[in-house]
Amino acid sequence: MAGTCVVGLQWGDEAKGKIVDLIGDEFDMVVRYNGGANAGHTVVVEGKTFKLSLLPTGVIRPSVTSVIGNGVVVYPPRFLEEVKTLLDGGVDISKRLVLSDHAHVIFPYHMEEERLAESGGEGKIGTTGRGIGPCYQDKVGRRFAIRVGELLRPDHLRERLRQVVPFKNRLMTAFADGAAGAKVFDATAIADEYLKYAERIRPYVTDTARLLHDSVKAGKRVLFEAAQGSLLDVDHGTYPFVTSSSSLPSGMWSGSGLPAKNVTRIIGVVKAYTTRVGRGPFPTELDDGMDGTGERIRKVGKEYGTVTGRPRRTGWFDAVAVRYTAALAGADEITLMLLDVLSGLPELKLCVGYDLDGERRTHFTSDAHDLERCKPVYETLPGWTEDITTCRTLADLPAAARRYVDRVSEMVGLPVSVVSVGPGREQTIRVR
Ligand code: GDP
Ligand code: IMO
Ligand code: MG
Repeated sequence: MAGTCVVGLQWGDEAKGKIVDLIGDEFDMVVRYNGGANAGHTVVVEGKTFKLSLLPTGVIRPSVTSVIGNGVVVYPPRFLEEVKTLLDGGVDISKRLVLSDHAHVIFPYHMEEERLAESGGEGKIGTTGRGIGPCYQDKVGRRFAIRVGELLRPDHLRERLRQVVPFKNRLMTAFADGAAGAKVFDATAIADEYLKYAERIRPYVTDTARLLHDSVKAGKRVLFEAAQGSLLDVDHGTYPFVTSSSSLPSGMWSGSGLPAKNVTRIIGVVKAYTTRVGRGPFPTELDDGMDGTGERIRKVGKEYGTVTGRPRRTGWFDAVAVRYTAALAGADEITLMLLDVLSGLPELKLCVGYDLDGERRTHFTSDAHDLERCKPVYETLPGWTEDITTCRTLADLPAAARRYVDRVSEMVGLPVSVVSVGPGREQTIRVR
């Protein structure tokens, strides 16, 4: 089987959703393998905007079966809300959406644990507040986690919550330094609430690993959709300012159960510049005030988080970082997104190296302490003034824009297969 994986090579929000939608019709199944409703993927099809957090972007394509794999953490109300929004919008997904019985469930106490952890000053990561980290902590810790399959067994669920909730209450009260400030939860109330969700979720729940194996045997084509970006990967990202899952393609195997040998094409998605939400080092950040280039990119690119509405931090394209993530991801090609946002800037900068304590380097370090001290070394390229949103071939682009695309490709060391010049499906240049 020739499977494909779409992965972000920066700090998320690279427009992975648009690429998944663009090539979605070439596949029978689209699989999410990591993260949860911390993701926010916006896709614009024929002027209609779809916003997805937990469901794979593939659901928009009527011929595709969407799979939420075992590596995903699921907040049931969010799952049901997204299902309802799609059904109300005329996208019938009832027979072609499946949810792994092995996926882990997010409970209200996970959100509270995160709120308490994030209310401290220095230890703050700037998370999305969706309970992602605490749920993965419980998964790896093994004692307090509850999986989707367990929601479907009422007596068992009640018993599990009777064990878990008092412990969580004690933990959070201690964490909040006394009773004040920490919410206290009631096991019976949570069980009543989640059992209602469970009945609505039941038709979607299955052993997705087996389904994927059977589908591959039957010759089905599978597309993997990574959430977050490679620099947020829990192992290889800018730790501790990362998310709690493997967003690199390495997460595919564990997060879906389908061996990586089934995937023969890895598409790395990058923005023509860089953004980051939340805290952590960002060498090429343009923190240059309300009249500066950073704010201009934010405004033109509408760089505000889909999930939290926070303004995204903006900066120049970092070829050092993308070379690093492209290698870790095993990317075969890159798609260069939001190029139109750079139109009108007199000159553009590409980060081609770092200065670390007076020493020039061309390789990335994911060590947050070192990366914080890296000063970017830039190459400057001319900008263009033309509106490029109607360009459909490379030849339509102004010479300076073509040169920028070529230089990004050279610096990263990979071919550019798509250039995106607007949010719409049609605002796309397919290079090969
Ligand atoms: P994802 O999380 O990687 O799927 O990306 P997001 O959806 O969070 O952010 C990308 C945003 O850019 C979305 O609002 C898209 O509609 C939009 N977008 C995608 N491609 C382009 C493009 O080429 N130009 C512009 N201006 N916007 C784009
Ligand atoms: P998509 O799929 C951008 C960031 C958060 C925070 C850090 C940890 O839309 O690209 P978490 O809530 O995961 O514990 O937060 O990771 N983050 C994202 N940033 N895009 C995302 O997803 C993100 N998902 C998490 O802002 O810095
Ligand atoms: Mg996003």
